[in-house]
Amino acid sequence: MVITPSAPLLAVEKLSVFYDQFRAVDSVDLTVTPGEIVSIIGANGAGKSSFLKAIVGQGGRVAGSIRFDGQDIAAWPTSRIVGAGIALVPEGRRLFPTLTVEENLRLGWDVGRRGGMTAEEVFDLFPMLREKRRVPAGQLSGGQQQMVALGRALLSDPRLMLCDEISLGLAPAIVNDLYALLEKINRRGIGIVLVEQDISRALNVAHRFYCFLEGRVSLAGVPRATGRETVMKHYFGS
Ligand SMILES: Nc1ncnc2c1ncn2[C@@H]1O[C@H](COP(=O)(O)OP(=O)(O)O)[C@@H](O)[C@H]1O
Ligand SMILES: [Mg+2]
Repeated sequence: MVITPSAPLLAVEKLSVFYDQFRAVDSVDLTVTPGEIVSIIGANGAGKSSFLKAIVGQGGRVAGSIRFDGQDIAAWPTSRIVGAGIALVPEGRRLFPTLTVEENLRLGWDVGRRGGMTAEEVFDLFPMLREKRRVPAGQLSGGQQQMVALGRALLSDPRLMLCDEISLGLAPAIVNDLYALLEKINRRGIGIVLVEQDISRALNVAHRFYCFLEGRVSLAGVPRATGRETVMKHYFGS
């Protein structure tokens, strides 16, 4: 298949995610072009995490198509998807607390594409991690652990990073640092899908956004062109 320059990096069509009979994600269409930051906002239970997990082949049963760089990856195992260049920074970070920072980072290196970024480059982006490289991840602060989770994803050399509520439970100053890092990462040409409950932050950083409501896309657009009232109406569905 010939890929034109304008082809989306990720093209999701009519994606549904089921847990038994329950449909957590319902016929979602979503695209990400190379180098874009796309935010997904939505209330608790709207299906945001189920959507991100489905893209990397985890979680519920899926129907619909997920194309990455022109290939349908919907039936691929997670390892192959990560190897192709999609990295998930999962909700709750999912680090190995007794392993050191460096050991946690190496896990990203082991599963990914192995080009691009080295551990030293990740340490340049996150100098704090270099200082703490021999410290068990479980001893770091929440913000520092989130940086390890981002660093681990970067070491798999992704072209697309899916970030699930990276700011949850962190102090505003730390969240500012994380968002500055995301923009740095994006400037390297890496596409980012950002799931957030903090609507202001999600809209400020994004080129485009989608709002999920009860598993469906209730609104999609460009943040600066969309009024706050419109967003809130589609966020709460009333
Ligand atoms: N493993 C699971 N088994 C059954 N239901 C689930 C599972 N994970 C999520 N759900 C349900 O799917 C819906 C969407 O959840 P989720 O994707 O976590 O939403 P969000 O990330 O937007 O808060 C919720 O109703 C949730 O209870
Ligand atoms: Mg979630």
